[in-house]
This record gives sequence, C-alpha cells and structure tokens, in this order.
Amino acid sequence: MHALAVDGLHKSFDGDPAVDDISLTVPQGEFFSLIGPSGCGKTTTLRMLAGLLTPDAGRVMLNGEDVTDRPARERETNTVFQDLVLFPHMTVAENVGYGLARSGVTDPERGQRVDDALALVKLAGFGDRDPADLSGGQRQRVALARALVNDPTVLLLDEPLASLDRTLRDEMQAEFRRIQRDSDTTFLYVTHDQESAMSMSDTVAVMRDGRIVNAGPPRQLYTDPQTQFVASFLGDATLLDGEVTRHAGPDVVVKTDAGPLRADADAASYAVGDTVTVAVRPEAVTLGGGGLTGTVVDIAYKGFYEEAAVDCNGTELVVRRERNTAATPENATSADGGTGVPFRVGETVTLGVDRAILVENERR
Ligand SMILES: Nc1ncnc2c1ncn2[C@@H]1O[C@H](COP(=O)(O)OP(=O)(O)OP(=O)(O)O)[C@@H](O)[C@H]1O
Ligand SMILES: [Mg+2]
Repeated sequence: MHALAVDGLHKSFDGDPAVDDISLTVPQGEFFSLIGPSGCGKTTTLRMLAGLLTPDAGRVMLNGEDVTDRPARERETNTVFQDLVLFPHMTVAENVGYGLARSGVTDPERGQRVDDALALVKLAGFGDRDPADLSGGQRQRVALARALVNDPTVLLLDEPLASLDRTLRDEMQAEFRRIQRDSDTTFLYVTHDQESAMSMSDTVAVMRDGRIVNAGPPRQLYTDPQTQFVASFLGDATLLDGEVTRHAGPDVVVKTDAGPLRADADAASYAVGDTVTVAVRPEAVTLGGGGLTGTVVDIAYKGFYEEAAVDCNGTELVVRRERNTAATPENATSADGGTGVPFRVGETVTLGVDRAILVENERR
C-alpha cells in the first residue's frame, strides 16, 4: 500500500488545464519531489493533495483510503508553504503545539510531543523563544516541527527553501533529508530547483505543462532522460540533431554538425539512417585528443573548475577543467593549467565526447 496514490488528477482554470492527468504513487517513507518550470502546475497539484482545491477529475488516496471528497482538516496531510507563516503572538512551543491543542491533545502529552518535534529539528530548548527572534533557517525548522508534530501520513512542501540564501538553503536541504529519514515521514516536495531535488529525493517526477513527463530515481533521470526537455531541465546539456550512421556494439554512432558522436542506446531499436537527437553533458566532454575540433568562445571561472564554451562547427559544447591548484591567479586562465592543452578564448582545441545520451523527441 502507498502512503499517497494519485490517479488521473485534472484541474482547469477558465478552460485552461493547469493540471492535466497527473497520476503518481509514493511509498511510505519516501522523499518524492515534483519539479518543473514556473507555471507547470506544481502548486495546483499540491493544493489538490492537501484538500485546499477541488479537482475537476481524479482521485487522491492516502494510505489506501480515498480522501478526494474530504476537506483539508480531515486529511492526514500537512503543508509547509514557501511563505511559511508562524503565529507571531505565540512562542515557538505554542506554534509547534497549535495543531495538537486544537485536536484536544493536552499536557503532559502535548508538551512531550512538542519537545520531541523540536529535538527532531535540532531546536531543543528554543520552546520559549519568540519567532521574531529566530533566524530564517530556525523559523524554517519551527515550521517543519509544527507540520511534523501530529505525525502526518504525507508532508507536502511547496518551495519551502526558496526565500533562503544559497548557503542556508544547502544546509537546510541536508537537514530536510535527515529529518525526513529520522521521522520516517513521507515527503512530497515541490520545487523548481533541480539540483536540490536531485540531492534530496528518492524519486523525482518532472512536470511540464500540467503533466508528468518523466519520473524515477534522480540518477536514472539524469543519466537516461526520456525526453529533450528532461535532459536539459536536469543539469546542463547541449542538444544536437543527427543521423545514425552505424552500430557499434550496444552503441550507435550519430553524425552531427559538430562531428560524429557515439551514443549509448538500445542500438537494436535504431536503424542506420534514423534521425535522432543526442544530448551531451559537460562532464562527458574531455579537452585534448578526441575527434572533434572547435574554437573556444568563452571561459567562465567557477571556483575550483573552469568551464569553456567551444564552438564546434556552429554547435557550442561545454567542457570543464579543474583548476590547476599550482597555477597563480595571473596565469590561471591564460596558461594551459599544466595539462599542455590551451584554454584561451580564440584558441583551437580538440575535444572528445565519452558518451552522448540518445533522447526521444518530445511526444507532444
Ligand atoms: N486560482 C487560479 N486561477 C487561475 N489560474 C490559476 C490559479 N492558480 C493557478 N493558476 C494557473 O495555473 C497554472 C499552474 O500554476 P501553479 O501555481 O500550479 O504553477 P507552479 O508550477 O506552482 O509554478 P511556480 O513554480 O511559479 O510556483 C499557471 O498558469 C497559473 O497561472
Ligand atoms: Mg508554485
């Protein structure tokens, strides 16, 4: 049995479908992320799961029970929104215990559960504090404790980290994952931040225009994206159109404008002459040697590595190179970084591509 099962969910606003046939299942204890660009229907989906919006069609099941017709307060879901709101006139402990108090849980049980929830989010001893005196990350933890204190079947989170700065977001991401595991709660997490979704989730579902276009473990979606959209939405990728020229073991060789690329594919399902699209990720590109030739058109400094955009006959491929730690700031971008291969704008370089990804054309 799944903690959450959704079947054929639809919602239109003024005749425009915002959610168009969403089905998904989430096993108990899983961290499931729903990601996709702005406006693709993530929040609308979440609101229907929470019981805050009535679907036009489809069913929502929690722990095997159909809750589609139940209002939010009669569902065992809690929601944490982006613009989380703590009650300003209550202490941290009162905020966390609010839902328990409303459902008639009294002390000492309530106090104990509030303490446990605060300990879970590493805010033991903060109960008497005023929410206004907390940092952004601490407020986020209080909101999480408040949502976890009554042990929901599914915790729904809508971009809860969007308002935090990068450092705090990275830290809270790891904390969310830890709290999710420690509490063994099913999380359904909505975000347009692919990176954070990939690092936290057991399963990621990519949405586009109200539909789920690809779902699976992050590694699978990244290495074997089903569509061009997913390939470029999850991480960096250059897309090239080409033609299959021959089979090479389990791979196919694809002729593209940049040159021939070997793509790992279920070769049997492609014939010589097929028109295909391949995606090339920066980490698959090596500098020096290899069969492609191009001109460096841009170099971006990224900290411990540098990234060069290389024009290969009209297509830009991105290649990364770790900084030579021995290089001085003066020679760092102008020298060859100790590899003997130039890395300068205007320079001609050769590139190798270890592995291109064959992606389907969008079925739309
Ligand atoms: N109450 C509403 N009335 C009319 N249209 C709405 C309403 N709520 C959402 N929409 C529309 O439905 C579509 C999906 O909106 P939704 O808020 O679900 O997107 P989202 O994926 O959460 O985007 P974001 O990442 O920007 O939060 C959008 O086109 C939006 O304008
Ligand atoms: Mg939204």
